[in-house]
Amino acid sequence: MTQWDMNNDIERVLYSEAEIAAAAKRVGEELAADYEGRTPMILSVLKGAVLWTVDVMRHMQYSDVEFIDVSSYHGGIASSGEVELNIDLQTDIEGRDIIIMEDIVDTGRSLKFMIELLESRGAASVKVASLLDKKEGRVVEANVDYVGFDVPKAFVVGYGLDYKQLYRNLPYVGVLKREVYDTAHADLVDTADITSEH
Ligand code: IMP
Repeated sequence: MTQWDMNNDIERVLYSEAEIAAAAKRVGEELAADYEGRTPMILSVLKGAVLWTVDVMRHMQYSDVEFIDVSSYHGGIASSGEVELNIDLQTDIEGRDIIIMEDIVDTGRSLKFMIELLESRGAASVKVASLLDKKEGRVVEANVDYVGFDVPKAFVVGYGLDYKQLYRNLPYVGVLKREVYDTAHADLVDTADITSEH
């Protein structure tokens, strides 16, 4: 019996394992310099940002890590527009400097939701470090302070990013072949929102 190979579902690799490691080092070192002498709280957004978070953290000196889970995707590839808080962070953030670690910022809705939540709870400052910034997808204003890569408007998976909870374990970020979601999940696709031509 042949085993299903996830790599066959990838149209092309956008960022290799080595390029991602270099980006994590660059962002981690920038954060270390910018937060020198302080103990920021890293807020990692489950589940997609976990790999990015640990790789960036290795290059920082003092930090504390918490997790939050919000969703606007509901397992498909097009944003639903509504953001839900699935898992809240477990600690008081009053007066803390927060660094949100995201896998990707697309419409900006999840990020805006989290920033407003943290500010309403008295965070001293909130900055954002995202592996990927899909600027063309922005619907609401949401700024990313530390960017791994500016990604074109395509649906990407790997290195934490999933499609239907799959592909997170790929060591690189790549564009998912269109037929993967065309055939299996055509009902979930907002085709106007997807392109892999960039
Ligand atoms: P936003 O609220 O539209 O900015 O969406 C952010 C979230 O949508 C991310 O944390 C991802 O979970 C998901 N997302 C957006 N674009 C992609 C993609 O290309 N691949 C996988 N997940 C994505």
